[in-house]
Amino acid sequence: MDNQNYNKPILKNARKRTKNETSVLDYVPTAFDSLLGEGKLYCIQTHGCQANVADSEKIKGLLESQGFVETNIEEIADLIIINTCAIRENAEKKVFGELGRYKSMKLKKPELIVAVGGCMPQEEVVVEKLLKTYKQVDIIFGTHNLHKLLDYLQVAIKEKRRVVEVLSVEGEIVEDLPSARDSRFKAWVNIMFGCDEFCTYCIVPYTRGKERSRHPEHILSEVQSLIDQGYKEITLLGQNVNSYGLDFESREYRFSDLLNDLHKMDIPRIRFTTSHPKDFSTEIIDVLSLGGNLMPYIHLPVQSGSNKILKAMNRKYTKESYLKTVQEIRDKIPSISLTTDIIVGFPGETEEDFIETLDLVEKAGFEGAYTFVFSPRSGTPAANFDDSTPNEEKKKRLYRLNKIVNEGFKNGNLRFLDQMVEVLVEGPSKTNPNMLSGYTKHNKLVHFKGDSKLIGSLTSLQIVEAKTWSLTGEEYHG
Ligand code: 5AD
Ligand code: SF4
Repeated sequence: MDNQNYNKPILKNARKRTKNETSVLDYVPTAFDSLLGEGKLYCIQTHGCQANVADSEKIKGLLESQGFVETNIEEIADLIIINTCAIRENAEKKVFGELGRYKSMKLKKPELIVAVGGCMPQEEVVVEKLLKTYKQVDIIFGTHNLHKLLDYLQVAIKEKRRVVEVLSVEGEIVEDLPSARDSRFKAWVNIMFGCDEFCTYCIVPYTRGKERSRHPEHILSEVQSLIDQGYKEITLLGQNVNSYGLDFESREYRFSDLLNDLHKMDIPRIRFTTSHPKDFSTEIIDVLSLGGNLMPYIHLPVQSGSNKILKAMNRKYTKESYLKTVQEIRDKIPSISLTTDIIVGFPGETEEDFIETLDLVEKAGFEGAYTFVFSPRSGTPAANFDDSTPNEEKKKRLYRLNKIVNEGFKNGNLRFLDQMVEVLVEGPSKTNPNMLSGYTKHNKLVHFKGDSKLIGSLTSLQIVEAKTWSLTGEEYHG
């Protein structure tokens, strides 16, 4: 495939923000002479966060609208798509490893199309590397233009040309994209795209662009259609859902208003992720305290317990204000289950700073946490901060932190021992196919023996055992 008309990302442009409200477009499918995917199989790999999982469902929806059929066997696929994550170096290494494997597959099957999308192509360094050393990649596209994927496929399949199309600045919000959802009873619902926070370690504001909120009427009508299809649970998605609506020029409608409207709808369970502590307002807590279909579970990433490190991270809150928010949440929603994200080994983090983090973890009473060692991301401010802590020391801190976090996880499970809980049954347990599994309102994983007819239903279970990572339940027979 030859080299022409490449559109590569420019990090400097990705950093820019305008005040203008984003316009909204309805998706208009391109009319092709014949179905692009007739008789063809595709295989998709999804890395990273829920935003990517939701994007992959849209990619699948687009492909299936053109007759492609999904397979999970790479060897028989005509099209392989990798939806990538850029958040840490490890995630990127995995993708480059996989691409190595496709090189030999393509030698055996030259008509195989390999496409790389998602967050990695939004990085200048990645696209340069792909163009230089990964000639097996036919299509490189980013997060802002996945709705154009079919057009790129047309060029790659019919014209046998390589396509590199990565936009650095986000475009319109595209509504009505087809989506092939993975589950028949749990659905992701994007409420906003992008992030304007610019935490100094984070690549997301560059890869996903400016914060853009979907209009409430579009969100509410998507949720109504999910209800009509029998969905039981929705998870509202955004990098910082608490700042939903701040970008509207012509209306005053915030996250608490959205939760309030959704609370009145006939969907049994509503979750949301991810929240930023600085924007977790009293209005939001008050709506959540209405309970009902608003689940008593909040993921509230704290990142560090040291005020010095929080400042260097540009998090815009302190340990004290975070704990105050937690207290307000606990006062108004006493049964709340809280989880968090924590980064250890941020540049300049001393033993004293780390102890502050351990102290905060104890005080906040988290029932789970995703913990990471700081990974420098090229183009972010923190990648240039002085960092003298040896890697070995960072790993030790991660180990010490995880020990405390795991205790919190276990305590969170223990409080449901001997209680009745409601579980949304998802399917056979991943660890034991003779058991079913699902999640409680508080987002606790439960395994139990039951009839597969229960899959997709809300079932009451008695908890008979609490382990660190899961609960064991039994159907209650009075
Ligand atoms: N290094 C390590 N962890 C990171 N995260 C984001 N950027 C980095 C990075 N450069 C973590 C944060 C965030 C989660 C999704 O990933 O904890 O909340
Ligand atoms: Fe990254 Fe911070 Fe935005 Fe979260 S809020 S996506 S950590 S920049």
